[in-house]
Amino acid sequence: MGERTEPEIRILESEDELRQASALFRTAMVGLPSWPEVPGGTVNRYLEAGRTWGAFLDGMLVGTVDATSGKLTLPGGVRVPHAAVTHIGVLPTHTRRGVISGLVHRQLSDARDRGEILATLRASEATIYGRFGYGVASTSVSVDVDVRRASLRPGLPESGPVRLSSYPDAWDLLAQIHSRHLPSRPGMIDRSEYWWNSRKWRAASLTDPMYVAVHGEPGHEDGFVRYHPVDTHEWFTSRNRTVVVDDFFAPSPEAHAGLTRFLLGLDLVDRLRFTALPEDDPLPLMLGDARAVQIRSVSDETWLRILDLDRVLAARTYRGSGSVKVEVTDTLLTDNSGTFEISAAGAARTSGPADLSLDVADLGALLLGGTGWHRMIAAGRVRVHRADAPDIADLLFSWPCAPFAGTSF
Ligand SMILES: CC(C)(COP(=O)(O)OP(=O)(O)OC[C@H]1O[C@@H](n2cnc3c(N)ncnc32)[C@H](O)[C@@H]1OP(=O)(O)O)[C@@H](O)C(=O)NCCC(=O)NCCS
Repeated sequence: MGERTEPEIRILESEDELRQASALFRTAMVGLPSWPEVPGGTVNRYLEAGRTWGAFLDGMLVGTVDATSGKLTLPGGVRVPHAAVTHIGVLPTHTRRGVISGLVHRQLSDARDRGEILATLRASEATIYGRFGYGVASTSVSVDVDVRRASLRPGLPESGPVRLSSYPDAWDLLAQIHSRHLPSRPGMIDRSEYWWNSRKWRAASLTDPMYVAVHGEPGHEDGFVRYHPVDTHEWFTSRNRTVVVDDFFAPSPEAHAGLTRFLLGLDLVDRLRFTALPEDDPLPLMLGDARAVQIRSVSDETWLRILDLDRVLAARTYRGSGSVKVEVTDTLLTDNSGTFEISAAGAARTSGPADLSLDVADLGALLLGGTGWHRMIAAGRVRVHRADAPDIADLLFSWPCAPFAGTSF
């Protein structure tokens, strides 16, 4: 192999370059559904200014990555500055020569310089991001519900009215409901205006029907569901009419009960396909026959990269009693490396021998309580230097509900 040429890496600003970056990402991804052409002069509605990076070789754009600014909820409810990283791609003619490594390193140090504490992304493959310090911090479950078997048990929480809304007017209401009622579940992220704009833009080009229903009294709506039917060409005769639930935002038991009752009451529908639920979603327990719910897939959702370890460890809440000294190694953002004493009173740097040691990517996986220390130890990802430390760490980091973001980007 010849010597590697380092790509030139810089922020993309012009409309033309940003369009090229979007096209490059879609080429890299190979199989994404086609996307309508964005009208001239409007790229800034979909991409946050100053956050799209490009890598150039011999003057040619060959790789890109971007992000939007927002907040992510930690155990305990504190919402910390967060970069939602997306649109990562390298031209198929230029892969495996360090292009994405250069881009990701720049992006992570830029995000840290901006004061962001965490970065998260959704991964196309599980083999790409561990090397950059990302770990899997939350899980998303997709289920099918056999509507004929799915009768609701008595005693569900009282729910409010559910009414249909219509596009495009509904979009503003949905954005309001989401931002006002974001639950304190760890891992929840806000949805930026760029996120909503891209959903609107995509939806405007779809020809199949799409529906939206909201829960709550007018003016006090607190949940919603977006759904669409599939196989509409054989809808009249199908024996398996399926409705896909694209977006189920039910942040309270009341909203969950109301929206679930509404969906199960849809005439004609044999099957509901929920694309993304948290691992501990109550849906099966709300039914007389829990087997009406069949799991289709359990997937990694949030890939989380700790950017500022001191601030993130100090910001989350810990439970239980006792304390552990945890030694963290971060070969990329080296300021993070060090040993921290963690107890229900908080976390701070300390010195002396550690009880547990691990890589920053694995601490990212543990941070929101979605996986346990014993499990990581069994996988050979944490080294134990004090016998009772794993039990204490498990209690400190555990949380009553599973982490979940509920937003793909
Ligand atoms: C994934 C992708 C961005 C990687 O870009 P790249 O420029 O080829 O990556 P790099 O050359 O910087 O690779 C860095 C390291 O990661 C490894 N790597 C990169 N992509 C990998 C993959 N898909 N699977 C396994 N390892 C991978 C490389 O082998 C290299 O390892 P090394 O440091 O031990 O040599 C690129 O292949 C791509 O665009 N894929 C299609 C689109 C996509 O999946 N994007 C991600 C969306 S979340």
